Amino acid sequence: MNDFQPFLLERMMSAFEQDVEINLSESGVHPMTLGELTGGDATSLLATELNYPHVNGDPELRENIAAMYEGARPENVLVTVGAIEANYLSINTVLSGSDRIATMMPNYLQIWGIAKNFGRDIREFRLDPERGWALDVPGLREAAEGAKLIAVCHPNNPTGHALSEDEIAALVGVAEENGSWLISDEVYSGAERVGEKSTPSLYGRYDKMIAVGSMSKAYGLPGLRVGWVVAQEDLIDEIWARHEYVAISATMLSNKLAALALSPDVRPRIIERTRGLIRRGFPVLEKWAKDNSDIVSITPPDAGAIGFVKYAANIGSEAFVEKLRSEQSVLIAPGAHFGAEGFVRISFGLPEDYLSEGLRRIGDTFREIG
Ligand SMILES: Cc1ncc(COP(=O)(O)O)c(C=O)c1O
Repeated sequence: MNDFQPFLLERMMSAFEQDVEINLSESGVHPMTLGELTGGDATSLLATELNYPHVNGDPELRENIAAMYEGARPENVLVTVGAIEANYLSINTVLSGSDRIATMMPNYLQIWGIAKNFGRDIREFRLDPERGWALDVPGLREAAEGAKLIAVCHPNNPTGHALSEDEIAALVGVAEENGSWLISDEVYSGAERVGEKSTPSLYGRYDKMIAVGSMSKAYGLPGLRVGWVVAQEDLIDEIWARHEYVAISATMLSNKLAALALSPDVRPRIIERTRGLIRRGFPVLEKWAKDNSDIVSITPPDAGAIGFVKYAANIGSEAFVEKLRSEQSVLIAPGAHFGAEGFVRISFGLPEDYLSEGLRRIGDTFREIG
């Protein structure tokens, strides 16, 4: 076995998420059923031939995805097996050998872990918890010097921070100065906590831009396992060539269902459902944090169904999560799995009773520790 950095967050979730009474470790909203997605009538799907679909993605699906990105055409889109494949292939298309990558922290540590496993030169820059998770621009400038690729998560997992216009301008400026590629994992765009507008993609802001999206979070359809990359056409062709080695394609059914979900008639209904769950769930988390303000605090996220909660109890985040799971059958995610100790990530886009009971058990466990 070679020296391998496991993806600690996903390892923990795959080991325990199916067995706990209350799972608050997911980052998406409560998933949709097939019935909800199809409006209760799935008969047209019965005639679907379960062949390989278009390897780069169903044409209607690529058209619907392209329509969400200003200036993009279907040729700029590759459909993948989740954002997870999109990220994996994109960064390994751009990087080779010990190329330098500058990556945002805290973060969903997929890109960081892949870079580590391939022996890339990893530099980190941070979102600052003392300034509402604002981007540390001097830190970015330093980390990005000589970087072949800069990686951001926008809106960010786990903090929910969406980059401001000033931060985007600074980021693009730094990428331009270094001639770096820029990858933006945007799977939480559409899942905004306030307002009617989706978080704007960085696609179109810079030519060496790779935007990644997914059905899993803003659409509540993680079981489709559909994601995508949007980038300039020649890079898409390069990533497509690698996609054939890894997955060939997503499935025929998931291509069809994703095309339906992103169609102009259906997409607004799904986004409304997602935002409804987020907007009903966050006040529950916020009230719990206020009631327990001697132990926990939270910066409200711009987007996403997750709260990155700072705590004052004298215990490491992984030990706390393990204690909570083994004693209370509640699963949440430790800050250590995102590169930020002293925090836990709690999912809130869920039915209220389920969420409230989970929060009660988390509060009790913190109090027991003191
Ligand atoms: C930032 C981020 N990117 C990618 C993924 C993986 O998404 P998918 O289900 O589309 O593979 C996740 C899942 O939690 C995520 O949080």
